[in-house]
Amino acid sequence: MNDKNHILFAPPEEVRGMTKLDREKFRKTVTFPSITIPKKFIGKIVGLKVIKNATIDKLNKIKPISDGKLPDEKLILFDPTTINDDKKSEICAAINNVAGIQAEFEPTKVELTYDHWDVKRCIQAVLPEELEFSGYSQVGHIAHLNLREELLPYKNVLGEILLDKVSWAKTIVNKTDSIATEFRSFDMELLAGKDEFVTKMSEQGLTYKLDFKKVFWNSRLGTEHGRIVQKLDSSSVIFDIFAGVGPFALPAAKKGVVKVFANDKNPNSTFYMEENVKLNHIKKESIEIYTLDATDFITQVIGSNIVKYATSICTASSKSLSFHSIMNLPAIAIEFLYNFRGLLSSSSEITMEILKPHKFIVHCHMFVKAYEDVPQQWYANEAMRLIREKLKLWHLEMDEVYNVRKVAGRKEMYCVTFTLPWEYLLEGYGNK
Ligand SMILES: C[S@@+](CC[C@H](N)C(=O)[O-])C[C@H]1O[C@@H](n2cnc3c(N)ncnc32)[C@H](O)[C@@H]1O
Repeated sequence: MNDKNHILFAPPEEVRGMTKLDREKFRKTVTFPSITIPKKFIGKIVGLKVIKNATIDKLNKIKPISDGKLPDEKLILFDPTTINDDKKSEICAAINNVAGIQAEFEPTKVELTYDHWDVKRCIQAVLPEELEFSGYSQVGHIAHLNLREELLPYKNVLGEILLDKVSWAKTIVNKTDSIATEFRSFDMELLAGKDEFVTKMSEQGLTYKLDFKKVFWNSRLGTEHGRIVQKLDSSSVIFDIFAGVGPFALPAAKKGVVKVFANDKNPNSTFYMEENVKLNHIKKESIEIYTLDATDFITQVIGSNIVKYATSICTASSKSLSFHSIMNLPAIAIEFLYNFRGLLSSSSEITMEILKPHKFIVHCHMFVKAYEDVPQQWYANEAMRLIREKLKLWHLEMDEVYNVRKVAGRKEMYCVTFTLPWEYLLEGYGNK
């Protein structure tokens, strides 16, 4: 349509405010100015600019050019909101010019039903004018809504419309609790469709299976997963401390890093991570999966494996390793940073000489909140300040301070990448 919001191209006004979906109420008859022409001229006529500019845009199942009443006729529908007598004369003259026929405008009534209206038009039509739909995200076959309070009376209608109109959506849910659970999954209410939360989706070429009711997944993090994985290579050893179902760990293992150690405290996450290793034909020996609290994983798994790999491993391509710790639990990851202090101090095998060729890199995700409007640089500075404060390393230089996404008005998600000096991990050596 030339004017997409025009009342003619919206469902009838009487659907507004509907809290129970009544598909019949979406029925409406629209009269279009139209021309019928012999089929044999259609090729010459459709290309005319004057016609193209005046026909209707495609509306679900209604096309600007369709078959006419007789088999050798074609019907052209014009946009009633923009056409006028001058344009009509121009169109008739142009047709006469290319096809040598006298075309005439006549009204054509078309009955538009619920099936003709797209999802956006249906939602706009049912919600009170002052309310705007906040959208949804996709997790496999699940459409996930996070409705504001004002939209709650319409939740069932919205659920039904999405189920009808969005081809992949088979389960429509609304988040019911704003409090984040320990494992970052959330309570949800089924609005429409089947009660099935185990789903599969792909990200960066890998398939992930998960139970959306029991584990964390955020489809908006795909780019961030790819960004971090692209920093890893055949000399990298990965510690994914809050690994979820594996969207950093699995592509890293697939890429051929030295080894991946992936951890999540939620046994459901590690159950699906194991499943996803099999599903993606990832070599079993390339990844070890743990179900530990982050502090235990850092102290029991990271420390000992730095010692093991730094003392014994020489990769084919290089003798220096990069140990990467990925920490994507943005609400509280920084609280675990202090566990790196003195992590290697009780190892009698490790020395600065052994560690020197290698690097220990941390990718720490975090939310940064402001209490008033501030420039973007403030968030980056605050992210660095928080990292330094938690580590008690006041002069630590950062390798990268990356803005992952805006979470809310004054809340940003950052990923700060820094190289921790080995002295920090060795601190206290000899005193313990
Ligand atoms: C924000 S999610 C990130 C998951 C995954 N890295 C991703 O990008 O999809 C954080 C994960 O940390 C896990 N988690 C929460 N607290 C934890 C803790 N104390 N120790 C280890 N894992 C924890 C949650 O179960 C959740 O899977």
